[in-house]
Amino acid sequence: MKNYVAIICLLLTVGCASYKAVMPTQADVDRMAATYPNLDLAELNQGKMLFEKNCGNCHGLKNPAKKDAEGWGKTVPRMAAKMKKKGEVLTQKDQELIIRFLVTMGAKE
Ligand code: HEC
Repeated sequence: MKNYVAIICLLLTVGCASYKAVMPTQADVDRMAATYPNLDLAELNQGKMLFEKNCGNCHGLKNPAKKDAEGWGKTVPRMAAKMKKKGEVLTQKDQELIIRFLVTMGAKE
C-alpha cells in the first residue's frame, strides 16, 4: 500500500513538473532567419535567461510550444502587466527577447 501511494505521488510530480528551458543553438538561429533576420545566438540565450528569471515566479515555466508568435506576442505583455502590479519591471526590450526565445524554441520540429 505504501509503495502504491509512493508511485502515485511520483507520477503526479513528474506529470506536473514544469518545463525545463532548452539551450538554444546556432541551428535555431538559422532556422528562424526568415522570421527574425537579425537574430543571433547571444540574443536567444539572453531571452532564455530572462524567461527563466521572470516567467517561473508565479507559476511553473510554460512550454514554448504552447503558443505561436501571435500568442506569445499577446501573452508576454499581459504577464509583464501582472508583474508591474507587483512592482517588477520587464522592459519592452526584455519582453521582445523573451518572445523571440519562446517563438524560436516553440517552433522546433
Ligand atoms: C506576477 C505573476 C506572474 C508572472 C511573473 C508571470 N505570470 Fe504567467 N500567469 C500568471 C497568472 C496569475 C496566470 C493565470 C491567469 C491568467 O491567465 O491571466 C498566468 C498564466 C500564464 C499562462 C497561461 C494563460 C495563457 O494566456 O495562455 C501562460 C502561457 C503564462 N502565464 C506565461 C508567462 C510568461 C511567458 C511569463 C514571463 C514573461 C509569465 N507568465 C510570468 C502570473 C504571472
